[in-house]
This record gives sequence, C-alpha cells and structure tokens, in this order.
Amino acid sequence: MSSLSASESTTTPLPPVAAGKPLTVKVENLSITYKTTFERVPTFKNAVTRFGRGQRSLVEVHALKDVSFDVPDGTALGIIGNNGAGKSTLMRALAGILPPNKGRIEVHGRISPLLSLGVGFNANLSGRENIILGGLASGLSRAQVVARAEDVTKFAGLEEFIDAPMRTYSSGMYSRLAFSVAVHMDPDILMIDEALSAGDATFKTKAAEKMGELRENARAFFLVSHSLNSIKQLCNDAIWLHKGELMMRGTPEEVCAAYTKFVQVGDSAVILEDL
Ligand SMILES: Nc1ncnc2c1ncn2[C@@H]1O[C@H](COP(=O)(O)OP(=O)(O)OP(=O)(O)O)[C@@H](O)[C@H]1O
Ligand SMILES: [Mg+2]
Repeated sequence: MSSLSASESTTTPLPPVAAGKPLTVKVENLSITYKTTFERVPTFKNAVTRFGRGQRSLVEVHALKDVSFDVPDGTALGIIGNNGAGKSTLMRALAGILPPNKGRIEVHGRISPLLSLGVGFNANLSGRENIILGGLASGLSRAQVVARAEDVTKFAGLEEFIDAPMRTYSSGMYSRLAFSVAVHMDPDILMIDEALSAGDATFKTKAAEKMGELRENARAFFLVSHSLNSIKQLCNDAIWLHKGELMMRGTPEEVCAAYTKFVQVGDSAVILEDL
C-alpha cells in the first residue's frame, strides 16, 4: 500500500476546482455487471446424490450501480473505498476497456491506459519493448516513444534490466516501469490505480513528486489509493465508492473523514478486529 506523508513530498495542496469549467469526464448513471460462469465443485454430499459433474453456475457481480459524477478540467480526483468497491472497474470503464451495461461515459482527452501495475504489458517481452508498446497504446508515434524511452528507463531506475524480459522483474520493478511509462506519455487524463503499492520508499517519494508535477499539466488526474494521506495530499476532489455505489463526493478531507468514520464504526470493524 502506498503511504506518503507530507514530509516526504514537495507537492503543494491544490486549490479547489473552480465552478463552471469545461468537463473532461462526465459519467451518467453508469452500471457495470460482470458475468462469470464456472463449474461449481459439488460438496461431498451432493456429489454422492447427483453422481455427476459440477453444475454450471452463472454469477453476476454488480460492480458499479448507477454511478454519476462530473469531472471539470483541473480536477485531481481521489477515489477511495474498500476492496471490491468498484474503483478499478470505474478506471477500466473510463479508459474504454470495459463497456457500460447501462448509462454513459463521456471522455474529452487522451488517457494514459496503463492503469495499474502495467495492465497491457507483455511479461515475455523486454522492458524496452514494453515501453514502446505502452507508448503506442497511449497514442504516441513510434518516433515520439523512442525519443522518450531513455527518460522512462532512467526514471524507473531500470537501466541495467531494461533488455531483460519483464517476467524476470520483481513486482516493484514491474510497477516502477508501468508508472514511468504512464507518466512520460503526456496524457490529458492521467489515471493511477494503486500503481505505487509495490514500489519502495525511495521510488514512492520520487513518484509523488512526479504526480504533483503532472497534476498541474494534465486536464484531469484520477488517483485510486488506499492511502488516505496520498489522496489528501495529491487531490482536490474525491469520491468514495462502496459496493458499487457512490457514497459521497466532496473535498478529500471531507470524504476521507467520512470513510474513516465508516470503517471504524461500520460493518468493516469486525473484519478489522478479526485480522
Ligand atoms: N473480471 C472480473 N470478473 C468478475 N468479477 C469481477 C472482475 N473484476 C472485478 N470483479 C468484481 O467486481 C467487484 C469490484 O471489483 P474492483 O476490482 O473494481 O474493486 P476495487 O474497488 O478496485 O477493489 P480493490 O481495492 O481490491 O482494488 C468485486 O466484487 C470483484 O469481485
Ligand atoms: Mg482495484
């Protein structure tokens, strides 16, 4: 989990989003349902009575339910919520990877598609080859990507390993390269989904500085994190998702405070005690 304290980063708090700015993203009544079929392994008892193979079950997960919000230009939106709340689903939907089952999404701008830990990377290819792939996927030309490849490698601190296949990378090295590719492609809309979770403290500090810098240039910035400090420090707006529903939209301070209260007194309290 990423945790960035105020002293670790040089970023300054952002002013709140001004009203009346053009919208970068508009999400209207968005619902996303995953449908999965799997063979249910029979219990011993019904295995005996049915003699047969497992039943096929269709499981539907309502990952997002009727979610609506607007993101004006200049927003750095923090997205918080428990595991399984629908945060990554929302990011995938905004990136156009998952089609909505209901509702609509309007996106004005070019998104960095590497959402977390290098979705879209091919582990059998080298780091260098994946930089090229990632860059092309973000809509840059080959020449533009090649021109940036050295900076990407240097920022990730992977000069020695860049020609090795990515399956030989540690998870921290993998996420460092993913982060570095995403932030070097000048996206209009930058999306970071827990990308720092595997990085070490030195890299997290460097990454927080870079995010602060990009936040000012990007038209919109989405940060999914379990670190409420990172959300408060890097964002000027926040939403809280719970079991697929939008619980709250407000300033990072307000939303983090409400979420913390909920986690302490709500149904998660038991889970925390159980750990
Ligand atoms: N590919 C999938 N197929 C079926 N169900 C899925 C799939 N991906 C996610 N889900 C389900 O959708 C729900 C939302 O998942 P999602 O990954 O968006 O949560 P999250 O908020 O990102 O959680 P985390 O904090 O653990 O990253 C969960 O119940 C999850 O089990
Ligand atoms: Mg997630």
